[in-house]
Amino acid sequence: MKRPVAYVAGTGKGVPAKVMTNHDFAALGLETDHNWIVERTGIVERHIARDDETTCTMAAEASREAMAKAGVGPGEIDCIILSTATPDRLLPATAVDLQAEIGATRASAFDISAACSGWIYGMTVAEGLIQSGVVETALVVSAEKMSAIVDWKDRSTCVLFGDGAGAVVLKRNKTAHASNKGILSAFMRSDGTLAELLWRPSGGAKVPFSAGVLDDRSTFLKMAGREVFKHAVRSMSEACDRALDGAKLRGDDIDVLIPHQANVRIIEATAKYANISMDKVYVNVDRYGNTSSASIPIALDEAIVSGRVKEGTTALFVAFGAGFTWGSMVIRF
Ligand code: UT7
Repeated sequence: MKRPVAYVAGTGKGVPAKVMTNHDFAALGLETDHNWIVERTGIVERHIARDDETTCTMAAEASREAMAKAGVGPGEIDCIILSTATPDRLLPATAVDLQAEIGATRASAFDISAACSGWIYGMTVAEGLIQSGVVETALVVSAEKMSAIVDWKDRSTCVLFGDGAGAVVLKRNKTAHASNKGILSAFMRSDGTLAELLWRPSGGAKVPFSAGVLDDRSTFLKMAGREVFKHAVRSMSEACDRALDGAKLRGDDIDVLIPHQANVRIIEATAKYANISMDKVYVNVDRYGNTSSASIPIALDEAIVSGRVKEGTTALFVAFGAGFTWGSMVIRF
């Protein structure tokens, strides 16, 4: 494929107002402490949705902001791709609720299930649709209500996650080859043999939801943290290489690394491998926790608002998540 064919025209985020600090877990009777969470993960606080805040409402807030910044009306969106591990219901997709909510009447809309790598997957699919000529303007949204699926009695997982959404308007780049602005490379990979290291064992068609799955807590998210950590570092490192190779760039050429925000120790190890100094890495896991696929577009929106990403910036994005899935992308802004 001759790149770049698509560029980021606008970004937005939708984050619940309610903040839960590490100290607030004591009130849930959980045996944990602020220092453990900070030392092991870098997380200080996370945003938690109210009951009436859903994956769709957070996605809509992020989408409206991204469309406003892109100067694109809902009627101009050809396709909505929504990545989530927490769809508001199993059928139909949350993306169609979002379509109705924002009034994107001309759009096709579908969900992507790729866990924390969902934004990279969604962007890559959107770029392909633009390249093929099917789509001119895509809305790629990642929205996660992780608080609805974590086990609030399991200290090894519930302290890690947060809620939120991020959105990007991706447009065909009509002057792409002249300006060299847009997606310069993309890489995606999965390994389904390792699915049970990070999963929800029940609640789907194989083990349908029943009172029993609440009793045995198998409908909540389970994670073999230490195993996932090792794979995350290895796979994100590989993914950095692949995206850099694809863009014919080296670590030194990257102005900003925006990684999936799961754990600051994973981020540091990935940056070191990619030969990118930490002052070039955007980190906000301290304020949001792990918002799954929403973490990268939330971070990107913040980086643009704060001026860390601006016209001419070359950014590397890298993610890893359940599946396992992983992927990376280089974008020039
Ligand atoms: O986003 C998708 C990908 N997800 C990730 O990338 C997450 C990857 N994994 C991790 O980030 C880390 O493995 C964790 C943060 C989940 C855990 O950190 P760790 O350094 O790997 O700790 P551990 O699981 O080896 O547990 C160390 C100890 C254990 O106690 P013992 O067995 O040594 O006595 C745990 O029971 O820490 C204990 N522990 C806690 N203590 C206080 C586990 N959770 C907590 C807690 N508070 N919340």
